[in-house]
Amino acid sequence: MDDCRVPDIFGVAFSLPFFSLICVTNFAFYDFPHKRYHVPRLFYRMSDFQLKICCMGAGYVGGPTMAVIANKCPHIKVTVVDISEKQIAAWNSSQLPIYEPGLQEIVESVRGKNLFFSTNIDETIRESDIIFVSVNTPTKTAGIGKGYASNIKNVELCARKIAEVSMSGKIVVEKSTVPVRTADSIKRVLKSASSHDFQVLSNPEFLAEGTAVADLLDPSRVLIGGEQTEAGLKAIATLVSVYANWVAAPQIITTNLWSSELSKLVANAMLAQRVSSINSITALCERTDADVDEIARAIGADPRIGNKFLKASVGFGGSCFQKDILNLVYICESFGLRECAEYWQQVINMNDYQKRRFAANMVRTMFNTVTGKKISIFGFAFKKDTGDTRETAAAFVMKELLDESANLSVYDPQVTRDQMMEEFQYTCDVTESTTPGLNRLISTCSSMMEAAKGSHAIAIMTEWDEFATADYNALYEVMQKPAFIFDGRNILPHDKLREIGFEVYAIGKPHQNQF
Ligand SMILES: NC(=O)c1ccc[n+]([C@@H]2O[C@H](COP(=O)([O-])OP(=O)(O)OC[C@H]3O[C@@H](n4cnc5c(N)ncnc54)[C@H](O)[C@@H]3O)[C@@H](O)[C@H]2O)c1
Repeated sequence: MDDCRVPDIFGVAFSLPFFSLICVTNFAFYDFPHKRYHVPRLFYRMSDFQLKICCMGAGYVGGPTMAVIANKCPHIKVTVVDISEKQIAAWNSSQLPIYEPGLQEIVESVRGKNLFFSTNIDETIRESDIIFVSVNTPTKTAGIGKGYASNIKNVELCARKIAEVSMSGKIVVEKSTVPVRTADSIKRVLKSASSHDFQVLSNPEFLAEGTAVADLLDPSRVLIGGEQTEAGLKAIATLVSVYANWVAAPQIITTNLWSSELSKLVANAMLAQRVSSINSITALCERTDADVDEIARAIGADPRIGNKFLKASVGFGGSCFQKDILNLVYICESFGLRECAEYWQQVINMNDYQKRRFAANMVRTMFNTVTGKKISIFGFAFKKDTGDTRETAAAFVMKELLDESANLSVYDPQVTRDQMMEEFQYTCDVTESTTPGLNRLISTCSSMMEAAKGSHAIAIMTEWDEFATADYNALYEVMQKPAFIFDGRNILPHDKLREIGFEVYAIGKPHQNQF
């Protein structure tokens, strides 16, 4: 690309003989994109970076993804930029803005070497060959498509900024999850505001929070979509060459732009659909004394179904599943495909039903009233091993309990009170003004024991390992009696808990064993 600079005379003298070798290597790669791209060590030592990447958006996706690219590609300079100074300062500190197992180590191994976090957006774009756009694309909260369509305002702003400051052509990569055909809009924005040649690629991210680093190091697949023109295919090959440093060729799938964009929405819709499907069976299990875990084992043994993602729960959360399905519903509707839209809408409806059902069951089980009762909430993150609380089922269940005037004591090993309150406001519109006394009704605790003291019930909202292995004898001792446990994740040893004296409610489990 544009930046094979040579640092000194010594470097020039020794680099030249190897320059033809590099050209041959590059040429070989472009002709045969399935080949792995090996960087000649000698050249790398004597030159600056061979490629420069900018990532716009230092969030859950941008940060970890770029850290792994930098870690696996020492010959590439990776700079992550963001409009949020606070976010960039956190990435440059010892207290990273997000928690993911293994992330701290990987960031520290490359930060300041070939991984940089910066607020200098213009300069970074200008010097880069590839710009990843990894900004948030939340559901619209107003206007046309409100509550359904994805807001791609941030993506468009990035495209405008790239066009405004670039002094050469670049590859622009959609990393954000976007509605199908967004690349078209990006391309038009770039073209109308700049005379440089831009190629737009789609490279959706499939990492799951909680296992982001492992997923990035060993991805099930990398998907790259681009225009099927000579220039488009060349751009695809360039991005393939980045991933080929650690991802095997069969795992790198290339497609046209629209298939790639739509695949991401479909992947999330299908995953969420599995959760809603198994959750829809839990209510039936509770009426018929069937056991949802036994059913999951029995059906998962069929290779056509498979055993993954069949864990019943209080409902899915996270920033993506609901948002992406709503977007899919909106797209179907906007093409007049009402039946398709209704089909996917049902996945969300079932999830809402499951959360409501869980909270209603808590109230009913505790003698039809939780008013003034202390209830311990174990976990607020939307799943274990992440501090992310977006769309967490815990918020919805807690809101239902707050409506019944329960007192809630919350313990989560990774979530702060501020984060929790922000989530309440964003997804449930719960604030001190909408729910007077909110700050008094919710207390946050630093341990399970502190939360459980004096409470009537424990509700497991997140499947943190420490909840499964806690000393429930000790917790039982400090609770009011009868002491209830509502296991929203089916992670606890229910029979043992009953032996201790707990009254246990687990999702989709035979009713006869309860109470
Ligand atoms: N979180 C996930 O697990 C996940 C997984 C796959 C895909 N995605 C998708 O990836 C995208 C990013 O998600 P995320 O979870 O990382 O979001 P995030 O909210 O954690 O991070 C987005 C970042 O972009 C920054 N930003 C916004 N506008 C900007 C601009 N104009 N210039 C520079 N920075 C800007 C924000 O300040 C923020 O720090 C979304 O489209 C999401 O749907 C997310």
